[in-house]
Amino acid sequence: MSVNGGEAKKRLGVLVSGSGSNLQALIDACAQPDYPAELAVVISNVPTAFALERARRANVSAVALDHKSFADREAFDAELVAALRAHRVDVVCLAGFMRLVGKSFLDAFPQRVLNIHPSLLPAFPGLHGPRQAVKHGAKVAGCTVHFVDAGLDSGPIIAQAAVPVLPEDTEETLAARILIQEHQLYPLAVRWLCEGRIEIRDRTVHVRGGAPAIDAHALRSPGGAR
Ligand code: GAR
Repeated sequence: MSVNGGEAKKRLGVLVSGSGSNLQALIDACAQPDYPAELAVVISNVPTAFALERARRANVSAVALDHKSFADREAFDAELVAALRAHRVDVVCLAGFMRLVGKSFLDAFPQRVLNIHPSLLPAFPGLHGPRQAVKHGAKVAGCTVHFVDAGLDSGPIIAQAAVPVLPEDTEETLAARILIQEHQLYPLAVRWLCEGRIEIRDRTVHVRGGAPAIDAHALRSPGGAR
């Protein structure tokens, strides 16, 4: 398929483990005719994840690969790579995928694996970003889209959105506020990558077409397309 201007749409492979609300945001973005990507496959390591149901409803291939049925991470990663390649995936989006991926996986998709994380990295990597922010007494929290590298939530940062932490916040209320921003931010960052606007120099990500102004209230693409 092609987008305006005749460029081929990039094929997304989305890895999930849970509810898949970020997957839904990507499904909705891909439904726009001018969006530069299409969904090729959704893969979950949790066979009962609701995200797989979202994929089926959108007529996207939905694959369950239970990591527990593999001997080790290498074997699981090899199967993930095989499934992504079988669906001719260009860009891999981790969307609530609660597994680390190894070097052989990353080597198969160099600078083509993105993750969304519910904190303003490098603060609060790992599990339960919103819980960590509330416990720490942070006044500002948010979400980050970044390239995945061999570390834990440590790859080059593409985009971030901030939200306030309110005095009465619990982990749940803060996570819900952050999630609203995630659903805007992830499709925007994927758009930039698929339009070939992203360059990494040292570990700083530059987005061609103007510096994106990212805040919780005004998410804009450099080209003003969203
Ligand atoms: C999202 O908040 C995502 O940022 C987070 O899991 C949630 C998944 O929600 N990911 C991580 O914590 C990864 N370390 P979703 O399944 O509704 O998209």
